[in-house]
Amino acid sequence: MKNNFLYEGKAKKILETEDPTVVKMVFKDDATAFDGKKKGVIGDKGEVNATISARIFQFLKHNGIENHFLEKTGPGEILARKLEIIPVEVVIRNFAAGSISRRLGLKEGLPFKPPVLEFFYKDDRLGDPMINEAHIQTMGWAKENEVARMKEIAYRVNDLLIDLFREVGIQLVDFKLEFGRAGEEILLGDEISPDTCRFWDLETGEKLDKDRFRQDLGGVEAAYQEILKRIGEPEK
Ligand code: TMP
Ligand code: ASP
Repeated sequence: MKNNFLYEGKAKKILETEDPTVVKMVFKDDATAFDGKKKGVIGDKGEVNATISARIFQFLKHNGIENHFLEKTGPGEILARKLEIIPVEVVIRNFAAGSISRRLGLKEGLPFKPPVLEFFYKDDRLGDPMINEAHIQTMGWAKENEVARMKEIAYRVNDLLIDLFREVGIQLVDFKLEFGRAGEEILLGDEISPDTCRFWDLETGEKLDKDRFRQDLGGVEAAYQEILKRIGEPEK
């Protein structure tokens, strides 16, 4: 195995493999929030998030959503198809929380029907500013048909994940997706985990995601473990 670094982000390292179309993603225990202004470590997060992501990407694939995930190869490690990253984050919100609550003065938990879809430009230096479709096209970050495809996939992922999590007693509040190009295809990439979603317990309303870290609520590790316990391990 070659192990040349391609990229190191806040939560993952991306390494080359023998196959130029495949990368190894190593999930880190490091946690950041508020554009990197808050830093910390969440015990076993790398392994737990790699496992949760693998489980969710497998589930999505079984339900017709192609994505970059290939296989989980070791603790905190997955193999994924190499994508040409589109520098846009797609957020879907089913309930108000986080930045939309601050931006629009909305009470946390206000339901959104239909769900709200937002785009953010992936740039830490600028603090991931919110953008719209015109920005994406004019700046050349993605073409009109690519944006349409990302939106279509994001809404389908929302429908599927709402059901997956509801069955195990969890409300899917919001989540962030990233996409990339593999040849002509637009593929879902990155990770889907308690770092990139908000999950509330359906019965108690307890937060089971990175808000426990952002808001210093304690019990961060236990919350991540609870999500894994509820949705279960990926198939081998
Ligand atoms: P926000 O309320 O901070 O805008 O976040 C919305 C959702 O997107 C939340 O589940 C966290 C996730 N998210 C990321 O995963 N990475 C990011 O850089 C941002 C801004 C949000
Ligand atoms: N991960 C993002 C950041 O570091 C946002 C967050 O999770 O609060 O800015």
